[in-house]
Amino acid sequence: MNIVYEEKSKIFHLYNEKISYVMKLEKDCYLSHCYFGKRLRRWSGSAGMYYYDRGFCANPDETDRTFSLDTMPGEYPDFGQGDFRSPAMELEFLDGDRNTRFYYVGHRISEGKAKPKNLPHVYVEDDAEAMTLEIWMKDEVRGLKLSLYYTIYEDAVLTRFVSLKNESENTVAIHRLLSMSMDLQEQDYDILTLGGAHTEEKNVYRRHLVGDSIVVESNRGTSSPQATPFLGILRRDTTEEQGEAFGVNLIYSGNFFGCVQCGQYGTTRVQLGINPFQFCWNLKPKEQFDTPEAVLVYSQEGLGGMSAIFHRLYRKRVCRGKFRDQERPVLLNSWEGMYFALSEEKLLGLADEAVKAGIELLVMDDGWFRGRNSDTTSLGDWVEDKEKFPNGIQDLAKKVREKGLEFGIWFEPEMISYESELYKQHSDWVIKSHCYSPIQSRNQLVLDLSNPKVCEYLTEAISEILKDGNITYVKWDMNRHLTDLGSTFLDRESQGELSHRYVLGLYSILEQLTESFPDVLFEGCSSGGGRFDAGMLYYMPQTWTSDNTDAVCRLKIQHGTSLLFPSISMGAHVSAVPNHQVGRTTSLETRYLVAAAGNLGYELDLKKLSQGELEQIKKQIVQYKRLRRTVQFGEYYRLADPFTENQAAWNFVSEDGKQVIFSHVQILARSAYRIPTLRLRGLDPKAEYKNTETKEVFGGDELMYAGITIPRVRQDFSGTMIVFEKI
Ligand code: DGJ
Repeated sequence: MNIVYEEKSKIFHLYNEKISYVMKLEKDCYLSHCYFGKRLRRWSGSAGMYYYDRGFCANPDETDRTFSLDTMPGEYPDFGQGDFRSPAMELEFLDGDRNTRFYYVGHRISEGKAKPKNLPHVYVEDDAEAMTLEIWMKDEVRGLKLSLYYTIYEDAVLTRFVSLKNESENTVAIHRLLSMSMDLQEQDYDILTLGGAHTEEKNVYRRHLVGDSIVVESNRGTSSPQATPFLGILRRDTTEEQGEAFGVNLIYSGNFFGCVQCGQYGTTRVQLGINPFQFCWNLKPKEQFDTPEAVLVYSQEGLGGMSAIFHRLYRKRVCRGKFRDQERPVLLNSWEGMYFALSEEKLLGLADEAVKAGIELLVMDDGWFRGRNSDTTSLGDWVEDKEKFPNGIQDLAKKVREKGLEFGIWFEPEMISYESELYKQHSDWVIKSHCYSPIQSRNQLVLDLSNPKVCEYLTEAISEILKDGNITYVKWDMNRHLTDLGSTFLDRESQGELSHRYVLGLYSILEQLTESFPDVLFEGCSSGGGRFDAGMLYYMPQTWTSDNTDAVCRLKIQHGTSLLFPSISMGAHVSAVPNHQVGRTTSLETRYLVAAAGNLGYELDLKKLSQGELEQIKKQIVQYKRLRRTVQFGEYYRLADPFTENQAAWNFVSEDGKQVIFSHVQILARSAYRIPTLRLRGLDPKAEYKNTETKEVFGGDELMYAGITIPRVRQDFSGTMIVFEKI
């Protein structure tokens, strides 16, 4: 990779073997965007912008009526100089003025990676892995310095963030400071977004861009199940396997704003960053504000190629800690099997069954702490319920471990119940408006993580439980969104900082806990995948993908999630039937097959199963342990789309290419059966592959080009899994 600046032409060119990103200084002071895409040897301007004297266009250079910021493809547009498209920043000064004029003043090119302060980011382990360009812009009148950071890696990835420094004597209010903005020269794109709802996360929506804007955003305090901080920009003919795809994703877990906006003369503005709605940050003299980091990916191999790049990056350079490179345990979670009705006796009984089945980790979900018999009480009081656990949970954890299982525990640290000791002592620690009583959601209120005392309390309370080392897994839940925005800790002027400070507070707690307890595996959760984002992955290398455990619904949820996130980051459990969320009955085989596409777990009362079912589960776990290295560290390929087809299919290929797992699920059985043919991907066309069950041998070329046909099964939701070995 390399970054060059050509003094004569004023061109910045960031490139590696795969991509080029080109910018140009216009009139020596404005930064324009020229190109992002497949690698170019150099930029000579064959597709450069032509400026004309156009109606309604303001001309910052009085001597040149052809030049206007409204038609320049910009890199970080400000407000008030004539660019009427969506700005990347909006500031307000003490005199009420909101205009700014930032001009280029210099740049630096260096090895390695710059990082936004106190925020999750892509990291490098060696400076040789990346190069960084820092471009400095200044508003001399206002005494502000803006640094735009661009980092390029070996893969087809570039990351960006922005830092604003106040060098003046006065406080400046930041209303908007996005992480990235970029104007593509064309407009003929399809836009892909991942929207959804609780129990229906990451639906894939694709539509053609015409004439106006598409906005994705969250103002819920978290990235949310309803939206994902991601924009896919695809050529019209881009498919899963072919064509150009640009993906932009934000490494952030709070309110975000993303927008794709058509410019009037055929350009497309792409933006992503903290949501300006309800955001106002007071930047005091000498202070600096860093935005979250945005990840820009470019693929010529369709959506599949784009996902593979995100997967590699997030697995290797966003996830951290010892679990990053470790196979994840098969777990049994108590939630759907027992809900709040936990007890020492029941859990020990479950542990015995779990050991027999080959499970490696027992997770005690919600219901273990003082007085927690329903979702109406006790959040905030992180001490065990002595009635349920007379000998304490450390003792329980030890006993479970003696049986040969790891022991894990559930927390929902960011929350507080009215009925709790914590509320009696610290009712002022709640997020609430000073004029209304706070609105409950799931009978709970949200703690004010902008207050360092609250963060300290939570860090200590959780450390107290983890410090004995008996608990080696934590499920970190978060089951409501932020209403009644108000903090008794922040002063009047700082109330607009609350949502972002909440996220910073959360990150600081997670940073401390993950550093203090490196042997604890953390799994994120927000009523399922409500905060499944790259920010959380930086602290917790896996996330509970959805509260919806129905195998058929999961086909779509896991398909959508896989657009960005690797299988190793997805918690996926086999649960009881009829399914608790949708009432559907699917076979144990299909439930396993779908859950085995992620980090396999079971979430049902093993004691209620028949001997036959227990035997089947035992075999599934034996098989999964043989396959999990491939599932968790191999390449993943989507072969069919459950959003548009009556089926889902995928295959994994192990890191060494020797093991291939193919899975297919027929959704509804049909009388007039159309025989589906699924073409595998990622195999060696010259190699031979043996079906490990039937011992039949096929050429890699045949499996990839001719494919596999699925025989008719007269049953809804039937599944097929074939494991091949390369010979
Ligand atoms: C929501 C989670 O997604 C569930 O798995 C479970 O942990 C419940 N919360 C417990 O309240």
